[in-house]
Amino acid sequence: MADAIGNKAAKDYHLDVAAPDQGFFAKGLGNTDWGMKNRLSRIFSPKSGNTVMLAFDHGYIMGSTAGLERLDVSIAPLCEYADVLMGTRGALRSCIPPTLNKAVCLRATHDSSVLFEDMSQGCGLGVDMEEALRMNASALAIQCFVGGAGERDSLEVLCRAADAGYRYGVPVMGVTAVGKEMERTPKYFLLATRILAELGASMVKTYFCEDFEKVVAACPVPIVIAGGKKLPEAEALTMAYRAIQSGARGVDMGRNIFQSDCPVAMCKAVAKVVHQGFTDKEAYEFYLSEKN
Ligand code: R5P
Repeated sequence: MADAIGNKAAKDYHLDVAAPDQGFFAKGLGNTDWGMKNRLSRIFSPKSGNTVMLAFDHGYIMGSTAGLERLDVSIAPLCEYADVLMGTRGALRSCIPPTLNKAVCLRATHDSSVLFEDMSQGCGLGVDMEEALRMNASALAIQCFVGGAGERDSLEVLCRAADAGYRYGVPVMGVTAVGKEMERTPKYFLLATRILAELGASMVKTYFCEDFEKVVAACPVPIVIAGGKKLPEAEALTMAYRAIQSGARGVDMGRNIFQSDCPVAMCKAVAKVVHQGFTDKEAYEFYLSEKN
């Protein structure tokens, strides 16, 4: 096993060298099977290479979050403006019409609820592959607590989900969860994203941070950013813009969309940044014009 101490610090991310083209538009995923590529092409637009995931899975640890009190009222009408729906099987089956025909990134773990002081204790697989296929999932989202109390358990869940995913052609999205006591530094996200990719994640969800282009460069598969707590719309659009400029392949955004003053306008504005090359300022102007 490699030593943990006394290693030379990583520093050369070859930012000017493009990742190898493996004959498939999504980074690092050219050597996967047809079914996997078909599902990845429902997650990431083959045209822009990017994705807008609408995250409304919060209830699986938080119960009824602000804005998600009634998923049928707040989320169902928003879904048509996103590329991918990220939710639990319970939310999808009970509140989201299957006729929307959107790709699904199924929340596939169960984790510690907000009642626990330390939410980084780990998790288990909450959905098996047969059920994920029944839900027509295009991907599974697995929460991973690198550096937290639940590191070992959650990485085991990731590995087993990736095994099943490769068997059935379903990509797994590793999610870098940050517990209360865990770092939120570029150094941490560089470490965590790379670990998840090396263990089999076909895409990684993480938080935007300084030096994000290094995080992207060192992660061999596509990265999407998490939205995080609600920011003013202009700031959230700037974060999305900076992430895309740094090489992120999209966003998986929840509260910054569904808690916005105008969720539909915000979702459409985020999509302008992600798919159409809008700057943050252009997208914010678009948001204001749609809102009024
Ligand atoms: C994050 O790890 C969980 O999946 C969240 O429930 C959700 O995706 C967070 O979305 P946001 O931070 O954009 O509200």
